Order: sequence, then structure tokens, then C-alpha cells
Amino acid sequence: MTDYNNPKHILDSSSIKEGSVKWRSPSNIALIKYWGKHGNQLPNNASISFTLTNAYTETLISYKTRNTSTASGQINFFLDGKSREDFRDKIVKNFQKLDAIFPFLKQLDFTIHSHNSFPHSAGIASSASSMSALALCLCSMESYFFGTLQNIEDFRRKASYVARLMSGSASRSIFSKMALWGKTSADQDSSNEYAIPYEDKIHDVFKHFHDDILIVRKGEKSVSSRAGHQLMEDNIYAPVRYRDAEKKMVQLISALQKGDVTLVGKITESEALTLHALMMTSTPSYILMEPNTLILIQKVQNFRKETKTPLYFTLDAGPNLHLLYPDQYKESVKDFIKSELVQYCEDAFWIEDEVGDGPVQL
Ligand code: PMV
Repeated sequence: MTDYNNPKHILDSSSIKEGSVKWRSPSNIALIKYWGKHGNQLPNNASISFTLTNAYTETLISYKTRNTSTASGQINFFLDGKSREDFRDKIVKNFQKLDAIFPFLKQLDFTIHSHNSFPHSAGIASSASSMSALALCLCSMESYFFGTLQNIEDFRRKASYVARLMSGSASRSIFSKMALWGKTSADQDSSNEYAIPYEDKIHDVFKHFHDDILIVRKGEKSVSSRAGHQLMEDNIYAPVRYRDAEKKMVQLISALQKGDVTLVGKITESEALTLHALMMTSTPSYILMEPNTLILIQKVQNFRKETKTPLYFTLDAGPNLHLLYPDQYKESVKDFIKSELVQYCEDAFWIEDEVGDGPVQL
């Protein structure tokens, strides 16, 4: 077990600095999904994702010596310039979870400004990008205060570990192109505690993959991912699911290495439908797909059959369809989206995205 707790990371009160740190971190889209967890945010199966480019969060943390007249450190949080108490409360809880890892957090007051590149109401999960951005900022602060984490691999591993404690999928956003999180027999370096980089283990064709996101419905989903993970505890299909996920991971990793786009596409679509089948077989049962999600799935499958284009879909825990395909098909797929698919999107809204290089410090 990795132990990142460090009681020595306390600032000398005479030298506490005032300063700021800023990171941009992208969202990611899982091919094998993380659904169900145990212990302290540990996954019940391994997951693997593409790191995206255009869907990202920028987070600026400004810190200064804590105002000792207040009982605990103060945190102000602004999303796109607007104060948001709901997000602030989540950050307060997350900082409490990280108390033993970053004891210096208690010594500081914070003002945090965050901005998502996509509209907050677009129905795109922002936890992967926002929690990874936050984790990177905290690791940068530690590095600056104590001179630790100088090695980039150590830095990223810790950022992934810390991001995981706040949102499991966020652990994967730390790395360029692709990341794998969770112990699997398919990779001896894999871990339940942090994600590992996968860029060097995949065929070039996947490093330039596209992910266009068709927004079927904007707005908050009716059942949160947190509740969804919890419902897996009593899902009668859960044991079968975890075995199936492991089997698919072994096949997928081999297909990713070989550049077998067809097999990667097939496994990815099967995973998306399995995720939603697990929701439908939970107690209580729920459905996050919309009628237009199904229409779009059929259109994509027909287009693939008729044109022989390797265009595949996946879904997150919501109704929006992600379209995955190699770079060389970008013109024809975008024409297809504009002529046949946008009418099934809310307000004809869709987001063009692609596999990207991971977070940047700003
Ligand atoms: O990281 P969480 O707790 O928001 O869960 C994310 C779960 C899925 O997005 C549905 C799958 C995944 O692996 O990203």
C-alpha cells in the first residue's frame, strides 16, 4: 500500500507564503468503465480511458496564511466568477479527506476560481477534470513548499492518487492520451490506488482518435454516479460484471497494442451497454438513456454497416453519446453528424473533442 500521509508537511508559521497555483486538466472517456467501488475509493474492476483535449477545467488556487480568528481555514469558491456554496461545501469535505496527506491545508485560507470549457449544464461529467485539476494544484503547492515531487513520474502518481480519493475517474485524467486505473492481470504495473500512463503501450492510431460528444440532454442527471456506484453493492449481476470487465480488459489491451480498431470498437460499445444494463438491473432500477440516445445508436450502427467507417459509440453515466473514430475519417463523420445526427441533440448542441496531451500548469 502506498502511504502518502506525511505529518511533517507543516509550514513554519513565520515563513508562510501567499501565492497561487493554476492547472488546466482535461476530462476523459472510459472504454472499460469503473462502476462499483469498495473501501476508500478503490475500484471493483480496472478501467481504461482516453484523455480528452477540449473538455477541461481550469482551476486557480490562491492561498494565504490562515486568519487565526476563524476556527478553521476559510475557502471561497467561484465557478466562472460566481460564488458557489454547493461546490465550496464539496471542496471543504475533500480537503478534510486529504488532511493527513497535506496537513498544511489547515494552515491556509483559500480562494479558488474554476472554469469549465464546456457549459456546466451540458450534462458532461465535470468531476474528472475538476478533481484532477484540484489534485494537481495541491501537489504543486506541496512541491513548492517542501521541495518534494521533483520527479515528474512521482508528481503525477501522487496527483493521480489524490484525484482518485476525490473522484475515481479523475485519477485517469492526469496522463496524456490514455490511462489505466485498477488492478488487472493484463498489466503488472496496474494499481487500485492510482492510474498509470498508457500512451506508450498503445498503437499510434489510438493517439489521434476523435471523441465527438452528442448532447442528447443538458442538465443534471437524475441519479448521481455516487448513488450508482452504491447500487452496485446489491446488484445480483455484480460478480458476473466484474469477471466480464477483467476479461474484456485483457482483450482490449491486446487490441490497443495491435491497432485493432474493430475489436476496440466492439468491446467499447459492449461496455457502454453493459454500464446502462447495470443501471436497469439495480434496485431501484433506473434508466439514464433517452429515446434519442437509442435513435442515435441505431444511426451510428447503420452508418458503420453501410459505409464501412469504423465509427463506434460509448456512453458515460448519462444520455449523451460519445462517437469514437480514427483521425482519417474526421471529414466524413463530421458531415454525417451535421446532416443526420444533430437534430437528435438538445438545441443541436455537440462538442468536438479528441485524444489529448493531458494536464498543463498555467
Ligand atoms: O469518478 P466517478 O465516481 O464520477 O464515476 C465515474 C463512472 C463512469 O464515468 C460512469 C465510468 C468511468 O470509468 O469513467
